[in-house]
Amino acid sequence: MLRLEIQSLSKQVADPSLAQSGRAAYQWARSHMPALTKTMENLSPKRPLEGRRIGTCLHITKETSVFIKGLMELGAEVFVAAANPLSTQDDVAAFLLSEGANVWAWRGETEEEYFDCIRSVLRSKPQVQVDDGADAHVVAHQENLSDKIVGGTEETTTGITRLKALEREGPLRYPIIGVNNAQTKFLFDNRYGTGQSTLDGVLRATSLLIAGKTVVICGYGWVGKGIARRARGLDGHVMITEVDPLRALEAHMDGFEVLPSIEAAPRGDLFITATGQTDVIREEHLKGMKDGAVLANAGHFDVEIDVDYLRKSATQIRTARPNLEEYVMPDGKRIYLIGKGRVANLVAAEGHPPEVMSMSFSNQLLSALYIIENHSKLQKKVIDVPAEIDRQVALNMLQASGLSIDNLTGEQIKYSQSWKI
Ligand SMILES: NC(=O)c1ccc[n+]([C@@H]2O[C@H](COP(=O)([O-])OP(=O)(O)OC[C@H]3O[C@@H](n4cnc5c(N)ncnc54)[C@H](O)[C@@H]3O)[C@@H](O)[C@H]2O)c1
Repeated sequence: MLRLEIQSLSKQVADPSLAQSGRAAYQWARSHMPALTKTMENLSPKRPLEGRRIGTCLHITKETSVFIKGLMELGAEVFVAAANPLSTQDDVAAFLLSEGANVWAWRGETEEEYFDCIRSVLRSKPQVQVDDGADAHVVAHQENLSDKIVGGTEETTTGITRLKALEREGPLRYPIIGVNNAQTKFLFDNRYGTGQSTLDGVLRATSLLIAGKTVVICGYGWVGKGIARRARGLDGHVMITEVDPLRALEAHMDGFEVLPSIEAAPRGDLFITATGQTDVIREEHLKGMKDGAVLANAGHFDVEIDVDYLRKSATQIRTARPNLEEYVMPDGKRIYLIGKGRVANLVAAEGHPPEVMSMSFSNQLLSALYIIENHSKLQKKVIDVPAEIDRQVALNMLQASGLSIDNLTGEQIKYSQSWKI
């Protein structure tokens, strides 16, 4: 589909008052992302992305606008699609469009429009493709839209899992840096960012008290840990379901109740999935839940809760509040679903706070530059963020937070390299 045809579908994206509101959101985020802005300011005199075409498939939030504007300030032409049909903040998309980015994104895209927007980015022949969830990389491979791409990056856990599967079945056509696996990404973005913003989404959608409620969190990975800590901080009684014995044990030692999901189903008031797996909450769980149970998903795709079952079996469906649907089940019980089972922190709230995205996008930016400089030497595989980039991002973030640390003395370096008694 032509770009203008797509843009005409999204009238809101061309609205000047929206662009104004998006600018204010961008300014607020930028002023809270000093680690990223410092990196951009240091690089900008050299214009290292001059003449480069960069495709992005990311959640269009105020924090993302700082990253995209940063790419443009370094000289790139940027092509933008959303990483989820419901996560785009239209004012931010309008602002980016007004600043000269090529934007195909609006909140409420149909599945077909969503993929058409991604195709529009790929047909613009980017040299580097930045992705979140791997839909752009997968479309580039399945539809032969990768001829100019020399490398890519991937933002999230689920995207890396998919790309490793693609690499196994192969061939991967270009190297992809798995940004999620940088420590300065998953330890902060997945844990603190998703932890806080998922609870933010639940609170905005329901306006209910967490204290005294039983909160069931499915998955105790980096996202699950963050949500569990925040829910406990709000005085919820937190239960964890897991399939990995180590993670289950960790949850137990962290003081959470660990149990099988089928046993948690009748006890929970609020359920949050954070696994990256499909059908985690399905018919057998939904049938056992209490009247009034609330469901939310924080995992990348809307596959963790069996929303099809809810839709097919409900006798009545209505919007109870913005981003909250009520399903009346055949036995009269009401089940509430936040954001149609899509990433609750982005659909019902604003996504991650700027401070953590400052680190995630510093990794994205430095990884994109690394790809441009080194692509001819890299294997066509999913590769880690180089350790020196990870360390540099941590140092930048410490500095931006006004913190300094000790250095090992010469004696300590010698000691750590010696083995004699
Ligand atoms: N909403 C957001 O903004 C956001 C941000 C970062 C990551 N994510 C997504 O969140 C998901 C989780 O990411 P992560 O970094 O925590 O991954 P992770 O691999 O660290 O953790 C996932 C955990 O879920 C567990 N699990 C898998 N299947 C399960 C099942 N059926 N029942 C219970 N537990 C199960 C795994 O054992 C693992 O411990 C991914 O889809 C990721 O892409 C979303």
